[in-house]
Amino acid sequence: MKNLTELLENYTLEGEELKIFEFPAPVLKKKAEPVTEFNEELQKLCKDMLYTMYNAPGIGLAAPQVGKSIRLFVMDIDFDREEITNADGEVEYRLTNFNPQIFINPVLKNLEGEILYEEGCLSVPGVYEEVKRAQTITVDYQDINGESHSIDCDELLSICIQHENDHLEGIVFLERLSMLKRNLLTKKFLKNKKKR
Ligand code: NI
Repeated sequence: MKNLTELLENYTLEGEELKIFEFPAPVLKKKAEPVTEFNEELQKLCKDMLYTMYNAPGIGLAAPQVGKSIRLFVMDIDFDREEITNADGEVEYRLTNFNPQIFINPVLKNLEGEILYEEGCLSVPGVYEEVKRAQTITVDYQDINGESHSIDCDELLSICIQHENDHLEGIVFLERLSMLKRNLLTKKFLKNKKKR
């Protein structure tokens, strides 16, 4: 986990903000390719994705959401965001308690139980709906150095990993809903998007 700590220490709000692709962008519908090179370019992408995620703000971001069709997502289900007014009277956000996590080439297994949770997605802004997921999972993944790990997850971590892993399969959470809700929310989202 050494590099995660390094990344956290190096993490500042001066990173590069990446464009987040919104539904129905084609890159969100593609099955992503495995990551094969664990190099500086990958480290920069992870850092910029975390920066983009924290700024949005969101608790998870998958590479296809920033236009890169590779099997990688970043996540932080622990950070706090506090609204403060600076000396010029402008509103700023102070982020604390970072716990960034990076999952590369994840494989989900041992999906057990059922849990309902209201999900949202940075690629479908403004839409929130309850999705049924497995309650507990095991995820095998590689870290930023390419080293393999396996962890058992439950609750929000399990839910979030399943949501982000779906992005690597070209699935947006709307597709996990009943046909009725899916059609309704998709129509509403596309209509609002046109207005923006
Ligand atoms: Ni999402």
